[in-house]
Amino acid sequence: MSLQSEIDRRRTFGIISHPDAGKTTLTEKLLLFGGAIQEAGAVKSNKIKKGATSDFMEIERQRGISVATSVLAFEYKGIKINILDTPGHKDFAEDTFRTLTAVDSVIVVIDVAKGVEEQTLKLVEVCRMRNIPMIVFINKLDREGKDAFELLDDIEQKLGLTVTPMSFPIGMGYDFKGIYNIWEKNVNLFSGDSRKNIEETINIEDINTPELNELIGDTAAEELREEVELVTEVYPKFNQEEYLNGNLQPVFFGSALNNFGVRELLDCFVEIAPTPRPKESDTRLVRPEEKEFSGFVFKIHANMDPKHRDRLAFIKIVSGTFNRNTPYLHVRNNKKMKFSSPNAFFAERKEIVDVSYPGDIVGLHDTGNFKIGDTLTQGEKMQYKGIPSFSPEHFRYINNADPMKSKQLGKGIDQLMDEGVAQLFTLELNGRKVIGTVGALQFEVIQYRLEHEYTAKCTYENLNVHKACWVDIKNSDKDELAEFKRVKARFLAKDKQGQLVFFADSSFTLQMTQSKFSKVKLHFVSEF
Ligand code: G4P
Repeated sequence: MSLQSEIDRRRTFGIISHPDAGKTTLTEKLLLFGGAIQEAGAVKSNKIKKGATSDFMEIERQRGISVATSVLAFEYKGIKINILDTPGHKDFAEDTFRTLTAVDSVIVVIDVAKGVEEQTLKLVEVCRMRNIPMIVFINKLDREGKDAFELLDDIEQKLGLTVTPMSFPIGMGYDFKGIYNIWEKNVNLFSGDSRKNIEETINIEDINTPELNELIGDTAAEELREEVELVTEVYPKFNQEEYLNGNLQPVFFGSALNNFGVRELLDCFVEIAPTPRPKESDTRLVRPEEKEFSGFVFKIHANMDPKHRDRLAFIKIVSGTFNRNTPYLHVRNNKKMKFSSPNAFFAERKEIVDVSYPGDIVGLHDTGNFKIGDTLTQGEKMQYKGIPSFSPEHFRYINNADPMKSKQLGKGIDQLMDEGVAQLFTLELNGRKVIGTVGALQFEVIQYRLEHEYTAKCTYENLNVHKACWVDIKNSDKDELAEFKRVKARFLAKDKQGQLVFFADSSFTLQMTQSKFSKVKLHFVSEF
């Protein structure tokens, strides 16, 4: 098959949701349709379950699952689908943000009873900023929930999306009868009382046919007609270009647990979802169909076995073909590297692959050469853009608790930071090290992993920082910057790349600083 036809048959996406909306269940149902797994229950939830076990055991369990479910690949109707797993727990949100740099589209799962929740909001915002095409799946229709129109309003207002319903529920909760599929113009009905199976798919060319009344009863049929009429009046018609540009979001209704509305979602997805998209580098826009290989690291996973220090770097292929045992340029290190056993991922296994195409993810064994965001090319010196660090929300001094192991501690911290577990800052004033994380859980992860993988011990000390802001030296006024540095000397640090960072201890300080030094540009993400 030619490179172009391999590109054309690939869809790489992520499923995002607030925890418990049904991401794992939907993933599993998609894999079942693709024949990648044989039974429900095969996909383990990557949720952090609090309570039952101690936190670090839970973290290790989660890490084990997260390597197994990092990429779930399957084929459906000749299309190769790669689902990139995103952690639902908010403390790992940064991991999810990074994974979103490697997807070409997303499916957003929303619980019909809960509507738009906090995590959904944050994740959708990131997707919106990047114009990632999104499809919305409203789940758990077998339960009592919000009115469909109310939900669509909620999605438009809170998430800032422009929705176009592709299906519409017939009743809800106890009265849920099935789905009218606007996209395919057919009706799917629940069978009997069990609410477990789709009775049959009945094609309805015209929603006004009396057949609909016979199928679902006069009242439900009338109601559905009115609702569908309202849908066509109120919402824009589906337009693929608008969807691909991130300006229009198709919405489906269903119940992942009951396998309802999932096939419709998948059928539409393979038809409309984007093939691997071009990606911006620091020198130019790179297109997937270019012959020369290029890709970037969006995730690094440390070996679960502390005796083996090697790690798995996950590369998204952006252009050309990636071949086993072929030398590629590691741009940041300006070093050629060959990979003898690149891994491809499937639902329940990984295996060595000889060749991979744009959209695919390969796992490369790494002994410490890779960092998140690193670019591999066939020789071209360019760096992919767009894996920013966000301002952490928790900050602590990190101290060495075992003076005999300072080397191990340094190495451990270094490698954990390369993996993207947290961010390291060095205070300008006294050279003290500060760890910044998105969630409080990461401090436990770091302490536990330093001890178990690097035999190093650390302690933490609280530090009162509200936000870290990156200082844009190039675009700031020189004199004002010099004054800012003098006045704020105690609050300045360098990140791992050597960029200047300002620690604001409260939102008030931040506001005051911004108004006093209005010509000093501050940013909340590391790339600007
Ligand atoms: P997540 O990955 O987004 O966190 O959610 P997950 O799929 O684990 O689903 C969360 C809970 O919601 C699970 O129940 C799951 O069975 C349930 N669920 C998912 N889809 C539907 C649906 O369409 N209808 C209904 N009624 N429930 C649904 P749980 O009791 O928390 O877990 P489990 O013991 O059933 O696995």
